[in-house]
Amino acid sequence: MKEFNNKKDLKRCLLDYKSNNKTIGFVPTMGALHQGHLSLIKKAKKKNDVVVVSIFVNPTQFNNAEDLKKYPKNLEEDIKLLKSVSCDVLFSPSVEEIYAKNIVSTKFNFDGLEHQMEGKFRDGHFDGVGTIVKALFEIVGPDKAYFGQKDFQQLQIIKKMVQKNKLPVKIKGCPIFREEDGLAMSSRNVRLSTEQREIAPFIFKTLKKVNKKFGTKSVSEINEWVENQFKKQPLLTLEYFTIANEKTLETVETEESNKKYRAFIAVFAGKIRLIDNIRLKN
Ligand code: PAJ
Repeated sequence: MKEFNNKKDLKRCLLDYKSNNKTIGFVPTMGALHQGHLSLIKKAKKKNDVVVVSIFVNPTQFNNAEDLKKYPKNLEEDIKLLKSVSCDVLFSPSVEEIYAKNIVSTKFNFDGLEHQMEGKFRDGHFDGVGTIVKALFEIVGPDKAYFGQKDFQQLQIIKKMVQKNKLPVKIKGCPIFREEDGLAMSSRNVRLSTEQREIAPFIFKTLKKVNKKFGTKSVSEINEWVENQFKKQPLLTLEYFTIANEKTLETVETEESNKKYRAFIAVFAGKIRLIDNIRLKN
């Protein structure tokens, strides 16, 4: 695996591949890699000649200073994992290499997608995501880029950014990779205490029950049921639960036929914020 932390050297290396007509698949990450990340890399490996992974904990997308400070970092372990899936190129720049002295994000208009769900609770988060992903796309120049449905709103926002700016990259959404007990894999899971880790699969269990209820109960009944479920869980605090249109991400009150819906949830286990979502049956 080739490793770079300097954009100039990375670009030179990638130019070499590109001039030999090799296709580039790109998986941007913030490191602390787990099987969820690796599933994206494996998919990219199947569809591209060369796979580039970036590891960069992007300061401008953190709305909470403590979350940024405590974000897990383990580059040595990450490198081992990347080699185990035959990643071709790693780009792990410093904050300075990306932002120079100006650690700020650009303001984006994602046609309203940014005002839903995470956007309501994480001020400026998607401007930070848009800024870094656009910058990384410019550096790497990938043919295809891979994002997880775990961060479904992020995936839709990136697709919107690519479409609005006519960026020459295809965005591929990948399924949520879960622990055996159903907990969605996340870099933040390592911060959970034993008790929090034991109860955390309750989040996905609740989403699966929501899927069963969808279509038989009204959306407001389901919302109320979910709120009550979490009131019974002292270790988990519900931040939001919403059933939304997959395309617009707007919350729905009553379902309409021919539309695709997803249930989205954000929960605090102590100070650790966990998100998950599920596609709802039609
Ligand atoms: P990070 O949280 O490291 O995630 C990197 C990619 O892995 C994202 O596309 C995310 O959706 C995907 N991913 C995370 N957990 C997953 C799981 N359990 N199953 C499937 N995919 C999963 O998302 C980010 O970093 C950042 O916002 C980034 C896009 C890198 C911009 O800084």
